[in-house]
Amino acid sequence: MGVGAKEEDRAEKKSVPEITLRPFTLSDVDDFMTWATDDRVMRFSRRPTCTTKDECLTHMKDLIMPHPWCRAICIDDGGRPVGSVSVMPAPGADVHRASIGFGIAYDYWGHGIATAAVKKAASAVFEEWPFLERLDAIAEVNNTASQRVLEKAGFQREAVLKSYLVLRGESKDMLKVEEMNLLDSENNSRWMPGK
Ligand SMILES: CC(C)(COP(=O)(O)OP(=O)(O)OC[C@H]1O[C@@H](n2cnc3c(N)ncnc32)[C@H](O)[C@@H]1OP(=O)(O)O)[C@@H](O)C(=O)NCCC(=O)NCCS
Repeated sequence: MGVGAKEEDRAEKKSVPEITLRPFTLSDVDDFMTWATDDRVMRFSRRPTCTTKDECLTHMKDLIMPHPWCRAICIDDGGRPVGSVSVMPAPGADVHRASIGFGIAYDYWGHGIATAAVKKAASAVFEEWPFLERLDAIAEVNNTASQRVLEKAGFQREAVLKSYLVLRGESKDMLKVEEMNLLDSENNSRWMPGK
């Protein structure tokens, strides 16, 4: 399927599949390959696009398995992953904030999967890490799909960071977004996206 077909698909809305999030295992490597070797997905990542199964396995062993919070996005319970969502706490003493990142295999774009996964991941980390006050994300200014996902999941635009990140050898302007209303003023309780 070409990119043009995806543009047309956006016009006709599809139902959002049920998704689950679970830790990766190395046996997910074949599914992981579907997006980790695809430059359409990886071009917004600072990691190079993998070219072989061995590179995918190394990436999984070195980065995914030891990651503090990285989950496989599955579209049926316990099923095969179609993408990943991760939350990285800030280093040092700033554990009150963390950043979210995500990617979906190209064949599954446009079904609302990333939006559902970001909402679930945000709810989960606020539950699991009571010290977390702020969840943010950065998206390249041209990455409209990612910005739309974050907007639909309840994040707010915060700033454009000029020449902030080097992606594929070029410094890029990045949009910084933060999750809003961490404290619900009426209930004085933590706001949970998707609840
Ligand atoms: C960004 C990404 C995760 C979105 O995944 P997805 O499951 O298709 O996302 P959703 O279906 O939940 O929502 C996508 C939204 O972006 C919109 N969108 C997609 N491509 C778009 C484009 N080129 N221009 C404008 N809007 C676009 C969709 O229409 C949809 O919005 P809508 O529901 O209002 O119609 C996926 O495209 C991807 O993996 N991209 C590469 C990796 C990446 O960019 N990761 C984020 C790094 S910050």
